[in-house]
Amino acid sequence: MGKAKRAHHSKSTWVRLILDTFILGDKTKLQKKSIIRQKPLTNLSNHLISLRDVSKSFNNSDKIDIFKGINFDMDAGQTLAIVGASGIGKSTLLHIIGTLDRPDSGTVLFQGEDVFAFNEEKLARFRNETLGFVFQFHHLLPEFSALENTMMPALIQGQTREGAGEPAEQILIRVGLKDRLFHRVSELSGGEQQRVALARALVLKPALLLADEPTGNLDKKNSEQVHELLLELNQELCMTLVVVTHNMKLAEMMSRSVTILDGKLVET
Ligand SMILES: Nc1ncnc2c1ncn2[C@@H]1O[C@H](COP(=O)(O)OP(=O)(O)OP(=O)(O)O)[C@@H](O)[C@H]1O
Ligand SMILES: [Mg+2]
Repeated sequence: MGKAKRAHHSKSTWVRLILDTFILGDKTKLQKKSIIRQKPLTNLSNHLISLRDVSKSFNNSDKIDIFKGINFDMDAGQTLAIVGASGIGKSTLLHIIGTLDRPDSGTVLFQGEDVFAFNEEKLARFRNETLGFVFQFHHLLPEFSALENTMMPALIQGQTREGAGEPAEQILIRVGLKDRLFHRVSELSGGEQQRVALARALVLKPALLLADEPTGNLDKKNSEQVHELLLELNQELCMTLVVVTHNMKLAEMMSRSVTILDGKLVET
């Protein structure tokens, strides 16, 4: 993917980006378990994610320096909220951590490995096996059903429809969509679509979930259910969570919270 392309992609570009995110080069080389569970920690400091001197600017009519030399570490199993006003760079940070957007300079390490030094195939496999994304604007495939959308990451790994169907159904039930499995996404409400996006992100039980406003469209009851689900998965699977949110309740549930101030990350 090009360097400075992302948040303002057109819809078709996003569909391609999502497929790129999941599609793998050589399926025969696929390893079943996620990278985090099969690889010993190689970095001495044991951090799951480290950002080293990460800088990022956008050149619009004025140059905007979003990040000016960020350093940040996060350990496996931690939960992090990224909070703050619109336009400060929350989604950009999430996309950099998730390798969907490259920093202008600096390094992003995952278990001590420089992820932007991976070739395209290794990067795609890393994303598919290790990361779960909930995008700010869902980016589901509207003509496919909730179940098909949720099965997509497993199908792309080469799993059969039967194999991919069962876990997809289970996670859709867990996000409260038992009665919507076969509905096309285009026929679902905004909140239902948001829950399908969450189910798709969770279906392969990622080591790291990156979620951009995962409950932004949900009512109080459904938000609370999703919050509980996230915390349960954090406990059950030691799933590390990074959540962009304006929901203070969700932010308070996370073990850490950061915001962006003058191009730096500040713990709140
Ligand atoms: N691809 C891009 N090209 C140019 N500018 C961009 C691009 N992506 C983001 N920006 C700019 O960078 C800034 C940060 O954007 P970002 O999407 O990270 O904000 P945010 O904190 O997630 O905001 P919100 O809460 O509204 O989602 C914004 O001013 C935005 O206009
Ligand atoms: Mg955003």
